[in-house]
Amino acid sequence: MDPTMTTPPSQLPGTRLLQRSGLIWYLTAAVGQLAFVWMIANHYGGHTLRGDYPGWNDKPIIKGYVEGDVAGNIMFAVHVLLAAVITVAGLMQLIPQIRKHVPALHRWTGRLFLVLAYIMALGGLWLGWVRGTRLSLNSDLAVTLNGILILIFASQAWRLAAARRIDEHRQWAMRTFIVVNGVWFLRIAIMAWAVLTRGWGLDDKLGGPVGTVLTFGAYLIPLAVLELYFLAQRSRHTIVKRGVSALVLIMTVLMAVGIFGAIAFMWGPYM
Ligand code: HEM
Repeated sequence: MDPTMTTPPSQLPGTRLLQRSGLIWYLTAAVGQLAFVWMIANHYGGHTLRGDYPGWNDKPIIKGYVEGDVAGNIMFAVHVLLAAVITVAGLMQLIPQIRKHVPALHRWTGRLFLVLAYIMALGGLWLGWVRGTRLSLNSDLAVTLNGILILIFASQAWRLAAARRIDEHRQWAMRTFIVVNGVWFLRIAIMAWAVLTRGWGLDDKLGGPVGTVLTFGAYLIPLAVLELYFLAQRSRHTIVKRGVSALVLIMTVLMAVGIFGAIAFMWGPYM
């Protein structure tokens, strides 16, 4: 009998490469997410602390501060300020050393992350459909589906953690991480497209064919790559592990281009 038949998939050739590609992806994403957090803290946090709420609008947004709209302004402030907290919490959840050495911290940031995920998704849906922060039907539908997936995935991650079904919990938690960062991925996808094609086919309202592919693809493509990553982890075929590692690295390069674009042209002036 071939001795590799009894070796667990996690010890077969190609596993190291897969782990490393995942790590490079994570470290690259972390740089871009921390830049996003920095922009939020500096721009929205700074103006809010100074009591200069109209200053939120100094940055291009659809509907930020609106004179007289107390509920809408509060919801907007809560949404953007918690965005910084959930982004940091999400990054912390994926650090294996924290899970291993400080499991209590992992559990508490995990609960915080999941509660914030519900608040962000429900608040985002409210901003879009009740406050009327609209761009185009296609992009509204894309962000709405993103919000619904956050609610479903976060519930799954929580339920499976409580049931101590750790492997399934890990998978749903990573899916939740992707959809929670959907709006971040969208900004990165737009900037990668803008840098690589000089914005070919992109319209301001993200309602045309390119805008629609980017708004849905921003989170559906990373979700699909994540499923392939899980498949490669389970696979007994080195070629699958190496192929998915290559795909993850290609996605990382595209993401790095988008992060560069976002920092240089979108967040930089407000950091
Ligand atoms: C859970 C993760 C989320 C994060 C980290 C996040 C982050 C942000 C940030 C930073 C802003 C300020 C806009 C900017 O400066 O670019 C914002 C605005 C907004 N978000 Fe979210 N968001 C999240 C989820 C959602 C969801 C799920 C929806 C919709 C269902 C949503 C809808 C909105 C809307 C409508 C605005 C106002 C946009 C504007 O006026 O330009 N968000 N969000």
